[in-house]
Amino acid sequence: MKIQIRKGILKEHATGAAVVALFEGESGPGQASAILDKESCSRIEEIIRMGDFQGRLNQTALLYTLGQTVKRILLVGLGKRLDFSIDRLRGSYARAAQQIRSIGITEFSTSLHIVGTDLSVERMAEAVVEGVILGLYRFLPFKTQNRDQDCEVTGFTILEQDDAAYKLIRTAARTAEIIASATTFARDLVSAPSNEMTPSDLANEARESARGKNIRCTVLDATQMQELGMNALLGVSRGSDEPPQFIVLEYRGGKKSSPFVALVGKGITFDSGGISIKPSDKMDEMKTDMAGGAAVIATVRAAAELGLPVNLVGIVPATENLPGGKAYKPGDILKTMSGQTIEIVSTDAEGRLILADALTYAGNFKPAAIIDLATLTSACVVALGDHVIGMMGNDDELKKEIREAADFTGEKVWELPIWDEYQEQIKSDAADYKNSGGRPAGAITAAALLSKFTGGYSWVHLDIAGPAWLTNEKPYIPKGASGVGVRLLIQFLRNWYHTVGNQTSGGQKVRNGSHS
Ligand code: BES
Ligand code: MN
Ligand code: ZN
Repeated sequence: MKIQIRKGILKEHATGAAVVALFEGESGPGQASAILDKESCSRIEEIIRMGDFQGRLNQTALLYTLGQTVKRILLVGLGKRLDFSIDRLRGSYARAAQQIRSIGITEFSTSLHIVGTDLSVERMAEAVVEGVILGLYRFLPFKTQNRDQDCEVTGFTILEQDDAAYKLIRTAARTAEIIASATTFARDLVSAPSNEMTPSDLANEARESARGKNIRCTVLDATQMQELGMNALLGVSRGSDEPPQFIVLEYRGGKKSSPFVALVGKGITFDSGGISIKPSDKMDEMKTDMAGGAAVIATVRAAAELGLPVNLVGIVPATENLPGGKAYKPGDILKTMSGQTIEIVSTDAEGRLILADALTYAGNFKPAAIIDLATLTSACVVALGDHVIGMMGNDDELKKEIREAADFTGEKVWELPIWDEYQEQIKSDAADYKNSGGRPAGAITAAALLSKFTGGYSWVHLDIAGPAWLTNEKPYIPKGASGVGVRLLIQFLRNWYHTVGNQTSGGQKVRNGSHS
């Protein structure tokens, strides 16, 4: 889809449909009256007066203009003015775009100030462009039939007359396009079936995403992992014939002296549970167990495309978890790269094992912050549901920064505590720790184990097991892969520069500990 920002007035731009967003309970086209023709305005008033359109959130109504340059007007409801939010704006434009596609219209336009809120034009432009791109996403590469019935929207234009606003919108729209495309890229990686998205395929996607950009991609193979002592990751990989891959993406957009931010993403391309095999019901969804890794790869790509002034390293340990003849078994003890040992209670608690080695590796970069994303526990889904990210970590300041970024992007995070009492649950008789603390507080005990491998660096763990894959669609997240984490991380990095990222201290340890 081609997104264009044009100088001009909505009614003079020829298009299949113009989207006009209206608040609930308002009687006419409001500020849109200035940029629509008189007759269209009367029609809008009429349809509202007749009670066919009230402006309820995401409600749509289609009007034909009978011979105007704008062929149709699609009204979309923003809900009550008092309840308005940037996330509602994303959703309304997503719904409008989906409605336009379902009619078979291939290009449409809108104007921003018709919304009439106190948001800046930049924020509105970002929200609208994100909503449209994310809302129109579909995963179609494996559909071979009835393709001629799929209509794709090919053009979306934002009209703006004012010179200054026009320039701001152009920049904001380009930014939003990069971020939204990174999000759909992550969705594609997650949606791909595991036979087409093996650890090697994921590594190739990472290499491809780095090509032609200021990103250095290094992929370690099993021999190199052995040399580094990554026996937890290697242990998990042993049940599979697919070779594990350790993906490292480095983007240096900041000052030479600025510390790195390290992003670590779980990259299990299929999680059968291994010897502690999962029930077959919904096991197919375990192709999504690399959603954290996908978010990390996509985020590094977007950071480089945006030219963010940060130094960033993305780390994705990638492997399958299968019950092959050489598979690791319950009772086995693995020696991690850090030297600490872990007794295996369940081979299905594999994510924390591969992350243990990846977190240790992240320490090589002496990062100012480590953020890991993982579809780590079903316990997190039980605790918070499928629309919330579980957040745990050792640094209150870092958690606050992530919460602020999440508030901005509409990706909900909620903190769970890692109090000392939980550490008891992961003590092992035979080794330093065990890889499962049982059912109580399962999301927290998983994080408690991770905390042993953060090397004292500022660290936040995001458990995305719930929101990575949606069974029910949301306005701008069709059901299936959500791409969760990409917009959040990018927003965090955009803010980061203004907070700590431009300091020139070396790698720093926990700034404001809340470990206990
Ligand atoms: N990948 C799963 C967690 C998961 C479950 C993600 C459902 C998304 C949806 C993880 O590897 C796992 O199997 N966790 C176990 C841990 C348990 C054995 C301690 C779980 O949550 O059941
Ligand atoms: Mn598992
Ligand atoms: Zn898993």
